[in-house]
Amino acid sequence: MADSEYDLLFRELQEIEEKHPELRAADSPTRRVGAAPASQLEKYEHLVPMLSLDNAFDDGELRSWEEKLVRLAGDDVRQSGYTAELKIDGLAVSLTYENGVLVGAATRGNGTVGEIVTNNVRTVRDVPLRLRTTALPGRVEIRGEVYFPFSAFEEVNVARAREGEALLANPRNAAAGSLRQLDPAITAARPLGFFGYAIAAEDPLPLQTQWDVLDALSEWGIPVAPHRKRCRTIDEVCEWSRALEHDLRSSLDFAIDGGAIKVDAFRVQEELGVIRGRVPRWAVARKFAPDIAETELLAIKVNVGRTGALNPYAVLKPVEIGGTTVKLATLHNEDFVRQRDLRIGDRVQVKRAGDVIPQLIAPLTTAPRGKEQWVMPVRCPSCDTPAIREEGEALTYCPNVACPGRQLEGLVHFASRGAMDIRGLSYARIAHLIDSGLVRAASDLYGLKPEQLLEMEGYAEKSAATLVKAIDDSRAQPLSRLLHGLGIRHVGEAAAQLLARHFGDLDLLLAANAAEIAKIRGIGLVIAQGVADFFSDPSAREEIQRFRECGLNFTEPRPETAGTSLAGKAVVVTGTLPTLSRKAATDLIEAHGGRVTSSVSKATSFVVAGEEAGGKRDRARALGVEIVDEAELLRRLESGDS
Ligand code: IVH
Repeated sequence: MADSEYDLLFRELQEIEEKHPELRAADSPTRRVGAAPASQLEKYEHLVPMLSLDNAFDDGELRSWEEKLVRLAGDDVRQSGYTAELKIDGLAVSLTYENGVLVGAATRGNGTVGEIVTNNVRTVRDVPLRLRTTALPGRVEIRGEVYFPFSAFEEVNVARAREGEALLANPRNAAAGSLRQLDPAITAARPLGFFGYAIAAEDPLPLQTQWDVLDALSEWGIPVAPHRKRCRTIDEVCEWSRALEHDLRSSLDFAIDGGAIKVDAFRVQEELGVIRGRVPRWAVARKFAPDIAETELLAIKVNVGRTGALNPYAVLKPVEIGGTTVKLATLHNEDFVRQRDLRIGDRVQVKRAGDVIPQLIAPLTTAPRGKEQWVMPVRCPSCDTPAIREEGEALTYCPNVACPGRQLEGLVHFASRGAMDIRGLSYARIAHLIDSGLVRAASDLYGLKPEQLLEMEGYAEKSAATLVKAIDDSRAQPLSRLLHGLGIRHVGEAAAQLLARHFGDLDLLLAANAAEIAKIRGIGLVIAQGVADFFSDPSAREEIQRFRECGLNFTEPRPETAGTSLAGKAVVVTGTLPTLSRKAATDLIEAHGGRVTSSVSKATSFVVAGEEAGGKRDRARALGVEIVDEAELLRRLESGDS
């Protein structure tokens, strides 16, 4: 389904649910967003421990692994054969489904106890809120890996570099960091993916092999990693691993650190067992060497970003890493170069994973060092204005708002997928529009006529009309995208969403001062000040006024809560409630705008206590915090008085 179509249907669903909250299903897609931030992540005990894998670093080690298995379980091992899967380099997560509906999600943690990340996982589009099966009664945990696709990772980092924000180190850490956010809105702004690979069920399922598991997951709507193979012999496994490492790996849009090889038949898996309850004998990770190569640093150049940030990058002697040739690598900022004491002519180590911008790790101190030290240019390489680096800032800036380099990058950002998403408005076309004098500021785009484009090179009737329509359509984008597109320093997608959601209307944001903006959860003082400064600038105000005249949408759809009766309330749930599970009570409170916290303090609005409530009820009494029962909670949710 096209994004635009999805958005329309989603909007319609939101409106229906707003009018009829009783119709809002547990697996409604509107539940993917809108949960309130948590104050800390709570613990979760896994139904069955989440295991880890032993490693095999080459074919020899794979064969020794098989020999050991054959000694333990004889010919059964070879008869069973193996399922070979990608070993995704992300974050292990367990999804809990009750009667087919997603009710919880937890990280692996120490294997036995993880952290609850349900509201964050709900924002991951790959994770179905309801499984496509009716034959799955009871409680089932689906294990898999949450990952950050390379393409998305790069987009986020390019944006962060432009904002002058610290870069995400690598997709794995970024996936872990995104999932463990206390505010689901931040997770939602990061397009994470999920692949399932295992099932732990309360009641036995009629599955006989690991291959069956992957088929079942896939049928139920859980994405399963591509390129899996059922191998009859360990030779086939070796061959598959080789192809994976040398051919397939570089074509993937996500990181893998090897293959996961599993004895296929459950009967044989059980026979082989698990070592110390943690590492199964019946599975092994075939690990790959990291994607690092050595080459020579030929030059260091500087590119001007949208905010005026001067971004140094390395020009390298071309080197092949994982099947592609690398010529450039990011150097982030001046300090990055200084800290590594990078000199032109150095032998350097470069890392590349998939399509991520190659990273320069360090010079090889064992090789002769280059002589020429690099200094940050004192003038902007695009407009020659003296550059500025303020105290405490990592980045050096070109302060000239009319710098052609900045304007170009600014418009590219405005039109980009995470912002106004104007399809067809490519880097080259924007450069062309600026050169021809038709466009300087983003608002100029909205006055473009097909006839003007037709006069330029590279447009035919159809392409000109298509582009003008794409620009026109973007007027309706929600406020969060417009805010992101404006390129306010420190305001990335996540912050833009928080701002848009809080104020709902650009005019309300324009009227707010830094202190008011900083009251939003997740927005610090630096961002708030940056936002206030941006909007107090007369030229920014003029641009906003032009956007208004061009009919751009200045509003954000309301967050999808079932109500706001508990807005701003911090609630503690303790003991066993008569009808609601802890999870269901939490979901209800959050859906009505409340926050569920784990410990009772003076800031607690009220405690919902059930049977065997114990310590938390006592503490609430001691602090004079109100204590209510389930019936009273439900009454408050319904009546709206709390
Ligand atoms: S199986 C046997 N399969 O690797 C049960 N793990 O080192 C153990 N992982 O914690 C896990 N892709 O996070 C399995 N296809 C895959 C995997 C996979 C990634 C991760 C997982 C686990 C770690 C084990």
